[in-house]
Amino acid sequence: MNQDQLKQMVGEAARDEVLKLPAGQVLGIGTGSTANCFIDALAPFKDHFVGTVSSSNATTERLLKHGFKVLDPNDVQGLPAYVDGADEIDPLGHMIKGGGGALTREKIIASMAKQFICICDSSKQVPVLGNFALPVEIIPLSQGVVSRELEKLGGKVSLRLAKSTRADLNQTPSEPFVTDNGGWILDVAGLKIADPLKMEVQINQIAGVITVGLFAKEKANILLVSNSAGVERIAL
Ligand code: A5P
Repeated sequence: MNQDQLKQMVGEAARDEVLKLPAGQVLGIGTGSTANCFIDALAPFKDHFVGTVSSSNATTERLLKHGFKVLDPNDVQGLPAYVDGADEIDPLGHMIKGGGGALTREKIIASMAKQFICICDSSKQVPVLGNFALPVEIIPLSQGVVSRELEKLGGKVSLRLAKSTRADLNQTPSEPFVTDNGGWILDVAGLKIADPLKMEVQINQIAGVITVGLFAKEKANILLVSNSAGVERIAL
């Protein structure tokens, strides 16, 4: 079974999971290739929800194409669940996210939800976070000062360029990648994140940082993880 099939399988499992929620609510939807599989699987059942809240322009576009209603987060009080992928997840449900650059909106929508349902294939499970370079969204003029602060934590910092992102985002190669919020992203390689909550707080406190792609406070509550044997559901 290839990775696309594993993503599709977990997307379908997530569809079955959210269809157990009482009808007539609003659902939070993440960003990325696994979240896309979930959106496609849920599309025939979209009327179970009165609307969705989206974590990126790319996700909004996909949801609208399928005929989902996409609501402004400011018009929504709370969400029963938020479904999204991850770049890495540890055994306690702490995650690195932001490989697709949508980390800030992802964290905002996750904070509105009662449950974070993380969907991924088993290649994303790690004992300790940090093999995947940690994305940090910043205000562009703070690039120098924030990079120096992040290097003090022991990481190797690089500014994400448009060419290093997904082709579908359609940005000019060699220019900085620009997020949906007008921010830039620093990718921090070489961190061994033994205490995700502590590091999340520490990086959030650096002036110029918009969001760090460590999801420790907003960790996963349910993990649906696929491998060639099927999908496992883990309550965290
Ligand atoms: C988007 O910014 C990310 O947080 C994604 O959720 C994460 O990168 C997982 O993406 P894939 O499902 O494409 O691996």
